[in-house]
Amino acid sequence: MNNSTIACIFDLDGVLVDTAVYHYQAWKKLANSLGFDFSHAQNEQLKGVNRMRSLDMILDWGGITKTAAEKEELATLKNTWYVDMINKMSASEVLPGSQELLEQLKSRGVKIALGSASKNSGLILERTNLTHFFDAIVDGNSVTTSKPDPEVFLKGAELLKAAPEDCIVFEDASAGVQAAIAANMAVIAVGEAENLPGADLFIKDLSGVTVDELITLIAHKTENK
Ligand code: BG6
Ligand code: MG
Repeated sequence: MNNSTIACIFDLDGVLVDTAVYHYQAWKKLANSLGFDFSHAQNEQLKGVNRMRSLDMILDWGGITKTAAEKEELATLKNTWYVDMINKMSASEVLPGSQELLEQLKSRGVKIALGSASKNSGLILERTNLTHFFDAIVDGNSVTTSKPDPEVFLKGAELLKAAPEDCIVFEDASAGVQAAIAANMAVIAVGEAENLPGADLFIKDLSGVTVDELITLIAHKTENK
């Protein structure tokens, strides 16, 4: 198998950049303003989930019912706080190993896509100087379904002209790991194994990941089919 056969699809929040903490802070502020709080375990379930679905889950935890118009307002409010935070981001908030892995993939001719649920991915990639690495960007503005549906990753593969079984997804969210499995792709989980069942490999961050290791992962997966 040569380099050009594999393709990589990266989730953004919590994989390439440290934005998961900003999502948490903004949702927490919103929940607190409505008179309740939610736990870290509940926050884990929000990762990878789109804005409106996250709001529905949070309101559910607080036992609160809102009209569609009120929900739009609350989601906009959370996003305003969130955008205030990400507007101040810089390249220093790129997570360890991300820049190096993207550079390595580029130099080896491996195609790279973004597969994110976020509608703010353009701003984040720009603030952190990562835009130029991507051959394709699929985000919350270009999909109709939320992870764990595989749409975001299948669209990424299609844009890269890669077969799903040659794609490796990097994910920090359980919903994202499930989406990659549903897309018939290899998936590397960034985070704690207990939160991310079903992944092919578990890593703390992207430091030390090599292209050769990725090629071997895909080759083993193909052999074992
Ligand atoms: C995902 C995050 O990447 O994007 C979720 O893990 C977030 O927490 C989702 O809700 C949507 O983000 P945004 O920026 O469109 O509100
Ligand atoms: Mg994520």
